[in-house]
Amino acid sequence: MQKHITTVKTEIEEKQEEQNTGPSKETTTSDQGCDGSVLLDDTSTFTGEKNALPNRNSARGFEVIDAIKANLEKACPSTVSCTDILALAAREAIYLTAGLFWSVSLGRRDSLTASQSAANTQLPSPFEPLENITAKFVSKGLDVKDVVVLSGAHTIGFAQCATFKRRLFDFDGSGNPDPTLDSSLLGNLRTICPNQNDSNSNLAPLDAVTINKFDNVYYKNLMNNSGLLESDQALMTDNSTAALVSSYSKNPYLFSKEFATSMVKLIQIGVLTGQDGEIRKNCRVVNN
Ligand code: HEM
Repeated sequence: MQKHITTVKTEIEEKQEEQNTGPSKETTTSDQGCDGSVLLDDTSTFTGEKNALPNRNSARGFEVIDAIKANLEKACPSTVSCTDILALAAREAIYLTAGLFWSVSLGRRDSLTASQSAANTQLPSPFEPLENITAKFVSKGLDVKDVVVLSGAHTIGFAQCATFKRRLFDFDGSGNPDPTLDSSLLGNLRTICPNQNDSNSNLAPLDAVTINKFDNVYYKNLMNNSGLLESDQALMTDNSTAALVSSYSKNPYLFSKEFATSMVKLIQIGVLTGQDGEIRKNCRVVNN
């Protein structure tokens, strides 16, 4: 199995060198659970998750998973599931970015279907209140602490203007920007995202202070009213989540340790084992 892990690691390393980036969202977003459903292309019998609202123009990098799978199929056919590849790729990407490591137990199997409507309703939206986001996490067996610590993944990566633009110009119909947004960040964001529709897909860093570094500065930003998404800054609106934000902002080791613990929980959600599901030969389609 060590050889398979090395195959995943090498591909992820090459991809990061090519792009000089951290993990992209494809390594982290799924909806039914950890069953590789996010990787399936649409078919005549189901519409998959790739074009669900939270994933459209956002989830990407599927070709990296394809390349890893092709190598593994050559070395050892029908043995490593696409779902295990995703779990390992997420771990390796963050390990290569931050040196942070957790154990990934293997043996997950791949789903036989995918559902766009489930992805639309079950994945959290940046526009919904913190209680709803927490409820979605709880419905998957996670808790409030997992919400706060996993949101720390927004220490890297980018968001399209459409996901936060309403904070910049006419927040909740007030004609003014979101009062909880720091004024200097507001100025920068208005430059990246002018108040016109064609700026919707422009990108702003989720953590503008240390853009490509996986660190605890995301939490320092929240303490300074500099969270990018409403759902990020909302972590400061509740006493218990704000207390966690404050402790992660002061203690990078605590953040790293608890992030790893929560990732281990996240990658166990809704796994298929035993006779359930299958080991896909091609991550984009179910086997014949
Ligand atoms: C708490 C609820 C969450 C909400 C509402 C949320 C929302 C978002 C949104 C709107 C984006 C920008 C997408 C785009 O514009 O293309 C984003 C990016 C990202 N999210 Fe989350 N997210 C959440 C939790 C998580 C979790 C739990 C993780 C991983 C553990 C994660 C990892 C990422 C990463 C790495 C990016 C950057 C992607 C890139 O640069 O391509 N997010 N998230």
